[in-house]
Amino acid sequence: MKIIASADELRHQLAGLRTEQIALVPTMGCLHEGHLSLIRNAKRLADIVVVSIYVNPLQFAADEDLDSYPQPFRQDVALCEQEGVDFIFNPTSLYPAQGIQVGLQVNDLSHRLCGISRTNHFDGVVTVVNILFNIVRPDIVIFGEKDFQQLTIIRRMVADLHMPIDIISGETVRESDGLAKSSRNRYLNSEQRQQASKLSCALQLMQDKAKHENDYANIMAAGLEYLKLQHIDIDYLEICDEYNLQAVSTTKHDAPLRIFIAATIGPARLIDNKPLLSPTLEDKQPCV
Ligand code: PAF
Repeated sequence: MKIIASADELRHQLAGLRTEQIALVPTMGCLHEGHLSLIRNAKRLADIVVVSIYVNPLQFAADEDLDSYPQPFRQDVALCEQEGVDFIFNPTSLYPAQGIQVGLQVNDLSHRLCGISRTNHFDGVVTVVNILFNIVRPDIVIFGEKDFQQLTIIRRMVADLHMPIDIISGETVRESDGLAKSSRNRYLNSEQRQQASKLSCALQLMQDKAKHENDYANIMAAGLEYLKLQHIDIDYLEICDEYNLQAVSTTKHDAPLRIFIAATIGPARLIDNKPLLSPTLEDKQPCV
């Protein structure tokens, strides 16, 4: 495994490997089981796996956790080595010293869900992802479903800009109590950690309800009431069309529907999502 900080050097290393399938797993480091499962997907689908580790300043607002974002780099390197990654790309910066002049902008899709409180976040994400695509020129890129809005926006970017790249999604990996794995879970103390597991419980409860009835208001009310009982102050809870992320107000809908939640628990803003009607039998988590 090679650890490379320079974009030119990575391009040079990959130049001789262009006949092989190259997969990219973009990350901000602090790797957990969720990332490892994306890396395993990449290993299955491609010959060469590049993992980028870069905490992208452009996607953080001034009051967010850019400066404290955990960067256990040696641990990340050991995990990548263990998973058989070929290259870690770990640039110091991807932007000109005097600041970036040209970036990408997402329209409608970034004005929903997380984009309402995190203005410009998704512009920062697509800009850095586009830069990474230009450096690595991957055939396949793997993103996690935990960041479903990000995944949807990137799929749209690839389609709108005719990028010759396959975007593959990886399922959300969860703790045994259902909490979606996230680098930010480490900000939680034990009480907050327990409360955080209730986010996925609320989604599970709504899925259960949707199996037996299709009244939108009852399904939403069940989720909201449960979260209130758990004293969780949500940023949003919405049932949306999975493709355009528009909130619906009825469950009679042609496209698949997905439930999205965001809440701040202690110092961490957490997000999660699940399909309203699960096509597969998911493991039920122990919820009370
Ligand atoms: O999902 C993430 O970790 C980041 O948003 C990404 C895609 C690596 C871009 O910085």
